[in-house]
Amino acid sequence: MGALYIFSWIYLLGLFLLQGNATLLEDKQSLLDFINNMRHSRSLNWNETSPVCNNWTGLTYDADGSRIIAVRLPGIGLTGPIPANTISRLSGLQILSLRSNSISGHFPSDFSNLRNLSFLYLQYNNFSGPLPVDFSFWKNLTIVNLSNNRFNGSIPSSVSNLTHLEAFNLANNSLSGEIPDMNLPSLQQINLSNNNLSGSVPRSLLRFPSSAFGGNNISFESTSNQTSSYVDPHGGPYLTSKKSGKLGETALLAIIIMVCVLGI
Ligand SMILES: *[C@@H]1O[C@H](CO)[C@@H](O)[C@H](O)[C@H]1NC(C)=O
Ligand SMILES: *[C@@H]1O[C@H](CO)[C@@H](O)[C@H](O)[C@H]1NC(C)=O
Ligand SMILES: *[C@@H]1O[C@H](CO)[C@@H](O)[C@H](O)[C@H]1NC(C)=O
Ligand SMILES: *[C@@H]1O[C@H](CO)[C@@H](O)[C@H](O)[C@H]1NC(C)=O
Ligand SMILES: *[C@@H]1O[C@H](CO)[C@@H](O)[C@H](O)[C@H]1NC(C)=O
Ligand SMILES: *[C@@H]1O[C@H](CO)[C@@H](O)[C@H](O)[C@H]1NC(C)=O
Ligand SMILES: *[C@@H]1O[C@H](CO)[C@@H](O)[C@H](O)[C@H]1NC(C)=O
Ligand SMILES: *[C@@H]1O[C@H](CO)[C@@H](O)[C@H](O)[C@H]1NC(C)=O
Ligand SMILES: *[C@@H]1O[C@H](CO)[C@@H](O)[C@H](O)[C@H]1NC(C)=O
Ligand SMILES: *[C@@H]1O[C@H](CO)[C@@H](O)[C@H](O)[C@H]1NC(C)=O
Ligand SMILES: *[C@@H]1O[C@H](CO)[C@@H](O)[C@H](O)[C@H]1NC(C)=O
Ligand SMILES: *[C@@H]1O[C@H](CO)[C@@H](O)[C@H](O)[C@H]1NC(C)=O
Repeated sequence: MGALYIFSWIYLLGLFLLQGNATLLEDKQSLLDFINNMRHSRSLNWNETSPVCNNWTGLTYDADGSRIIAVRLPGIGLTGPIPANTISRLSGLQILSLRSNSISGHFPSDFSNLRNLSFLYLQYNNFSGPLPVDFSFWKNLTIVNLSNNRFNGSIPSSVSNLTHLEAFNLANNSLSGEIPDMNLPSLQQINLSNNNLSGSVPRSLLRFPSSAFGGNNISFESTSNQTSSYVDPHGGPYLTSKKSGKLGETALLAIIIMVCVLGI
């Protein structure tokens, strides 16, 4: 009885370890499929014969070493489109940095499988075509940097659903159309400069410096209902011209009344 008990535990433990290893083996194969199908000028130490991808450059594992959670391969001369069904199989991926390469082609549609993706750095590549229409696959997206590419088309309104978004950089692309309303309290940084955007800056983004919108065909007038004050694109809050007169009068009146009251 005791022996059976011990055996079943060993069996379960073995199954558990095998499973952990199996996902890492899958991750290894996904990475090999990626790198073997893409030109790159700097060589990597990704040795196919090593049992798993321990110690390969640019990779980070989760705490129990069973999944790859980060791939960072900046500036290694990756050229051409990202092969389909490779990176996107790393389903535990949270951080992807392929910045400063020469990757071309469209934004990979299969990245929608990367549900845990939180940090995406693809700046300084040669991506073209539209941005993904639906950003809602990536509920945890926190930093998105797609600047310095050749993306065109409009900024999808689905970005307004990214409640964890802190930084969003689309500068130096060829995006057109209007900027969607992005009422995201988490957003701390945005740069949409040097595109072909039109219309006006939505109220929700007027708190950012005007340089974030430079090099476009954008106006800073708020087309929506104006309240007494909003944040000036150049820095501090200010009162809108029409209302400032009224408020100035009110303030003056209040001061006069106060002086009178205090005088008595
Ligand atoms: C790859 O790894 C195997 C075993 O881990 C080792 O024998 C071999 O020398 C390595 N090859 C290279 C090119 O590093
Ligand atoms: C891991 O990589 C480092 C530097 O790249 C090397 O010094 C070390 O020997 C490697 N360890 C193993 C187990 O391959
Ligand atoms: C996403 O991350 C969470 C927590 O780190 C993990 O429990 C979950 O399995 C991950 N999802 C995928 C698809 O890997
Ligand atoms: C980007 O792609 C265009 C068109 O395919 C090509 O002419 C240009 O050389 C590429 N630029 C870089 C930096 O790879
Ligand atoms: C997102 O992050 C939270 C915690 O920050 C985590 O629990 C969750 O598993 C992550 N992944 C998804 C897909 O929500
Ligand atoms: C984006 O660029 C491609 C290729 O240059 C072009 O065919 C397409 O019409 C452009 N889309 C928009 C919305 O400008
Ligand atoms: C935001 O998410 C909600 C719920 O998932 C969805 O109904 C809505 O269409 C999304 N908004 C945009 C602009 O994608
Ligand atoms: C995005 O990339 C640009 C160009 O490398 C850099 O200046 C900027 O700081 C980056 N922003 C974020 C939020 O990563
Ligand atoms: C956009 O490109 C210009 C000129 O190449 C560069 O000076 C600027 O830093 C770029 N902006 C960002 C946000 O990367
Ligand atoms: C910018 O957008 C306008 C339409 O809003 C279009 O007519 C023009 O060709 C675009 N310019 C560039 C350089 O893409
Ligand atoms: C946005 O990027 C431009 C360069 O493309 C830079 O001049 C400007 O200062 C940046 N603004 C912000 C708010 O990051
Ligand atoms: C101003 O607000 C009213 C009511 O909240 C709304 O009906 C109207 O469409 C708004 N006007 C603009 C220009 O947004």
